Amino acid sequence: MAYAALRSIGAYVPQKILTNDDLAKMVDTSDEWISKRTGIKERHIAAQDETTSDLGVQAALKAIERSSIAKEDIDMIICATISPDYFCMPSTATVISKKLGLGNVTAFDISAACTGFVYTLSIAKAFIESGMKKNILIVGAEKLSAITDYNDRGTCILFGDGAGAAIISATDNKQEAIIDVNTGADGTYADLLMTPNGGTGSPHDALDGEANACFMQMKGNETFKVAVRTLTNDVKEILESNSIESSAVKHFVPHQANYRIIKAVGDALGMTSEQVVVTVAKYGNTSGASIPMAINDIYENGSLKAGELLLLDAFGGGLTWGSALVPFSPIDS
Ligand code: ACO
Repeated sequence: MAYAALRSIGAYVPQKILTNDDLAKMVDTSDEWISKRTGIKERHIAAQDETTSDLGVQAALKAIERSSIAKEDIDMIICATISPDYFCMPSTATVISKKLGLGNVTAFDISAACTGFVYTLSIAKAFIESGMKKNILIVGAEKLSAITDYNDRGTCILFGDGAGAAIISATDNKQEAIIDVNTGADGTYADLLMTPNGGTGSPHDALDGEANACFMQMKGNETFKVAVRTLTNDVKEILESNSIESSAVKHFVPHQANYRIIKAVGDALGMTSEQVVVTVAKYGNTSGASIPMAINDIYENGSLKAGELLLLDAFGGGLTWGSALVPFSPIDS
C-alpha cells in the first residue's frame, strides 16, 4: 500500500505591510485594542495587480524546490482558497498550474475557508493511498484584502494576504506517512461567517444594478466561542483515536485567527508554549494559507526538523474544521 508523506513546505507574503496604526487611521480602532483582543500587530497586503494565484505560485515554487521532486512529476494540484482569481472559473489551481508550467495535471479548488489546507491534505492523502496520484502540490492562497470591508472594524483588523504550499508524495515507508487527517463541518452555523453577496443565494442578482461587493461578514464573538470548543475537541479526538499523547507532538500548529483562541485551545490541551506555533502577530488571519505559512515559519527559522510530528488544527467558515497528525518527512531525511 502507498502512504502519503509531507515532503516540503513553502510560503510567500506580499511586500506591503498594514499595521494596526494604519488601520486606526481608517476605522475607529487602536493598536491597543487590536493587540489585546487578537494578538495581531500587522498583516501583509497584496498589490492591486497581484492575484491569489500569484501568491500561490511563489509559495509553490519554494515547496517544489525544497521537495527534491521534479516539477514534471507533479500529477495533481489542489488550491484551498476563499478569494479565488475568478468567480466560478477557471479555478485558481488551474491558473497556478499554468503559471508554473505544470502541463497536464488534475487541478481544482476547494472551498473550506480557514480549514481549506487541512481539507486539501485529506484529499491528497486519499488520492495517494488509493494509488491514483503520486506527487500532489497543495496550496493555500488568499488575497483576503479583496473581500474585506475596510469600513467594518469588526473584520478588517483581522485579515491579511499570503500563501503556503506543500508537496505530498507517495512513499512505502510507513514511518514517513501522514498518520491521520480528520475533517468535519456543520452547516447549521453557516451564518456566523459568510460572504452573503455575489452568489445565487444573494438577495441581489447581477441585474440589480447595485454592485454588491463580496465582503466577509462575521459574528465575531459567537465565532470565537465555537472556535475554542471545536478546535479543542477536534485535537482530543484525533490524539485519542490514534493513541498519541499530546507530549509526542513537537509542533502544534493551530489556525492563526486570534492569539486568545490559540492560547485558550493550547491551555485546554495542556500544550506547552514551546509546542504551540504562533505567527498571528505578523500575518493576521490568512484563512486557508495560515497553517502552511506557520509551518513554513518554523521550517525557515530552523525549528522544524525531519521526522518531527506536526499536529494541525483548523476551524473556519461553513462551519468547517479539521485536524491532522503529520510527520515532516523531507526526502533526504
Ligand atoms: N476596535 C475597537 N473596538 C471594537 C473593534 C475594533 N476593531 N471591533 C469591535 N469593537 C467593539 C465592539 O463594537 C464592542 O463594543 P461594545 O461593547 O460597545 O458593543 C466591543 O468592542 C466588544 O466586541 P466583541 O465583538 O464582543 O469583541 P471580541 O472580544 O469578541 O473580539 C474579535 C472581536 C476579535 C473579532 C473576536 O471575536 C474574534 O477573534 N472572533 C473569532 C474570529 C475567528 O476565529 N474567525 C474564524 C475564522 S475566519 C474564516 O474562516 C475566514
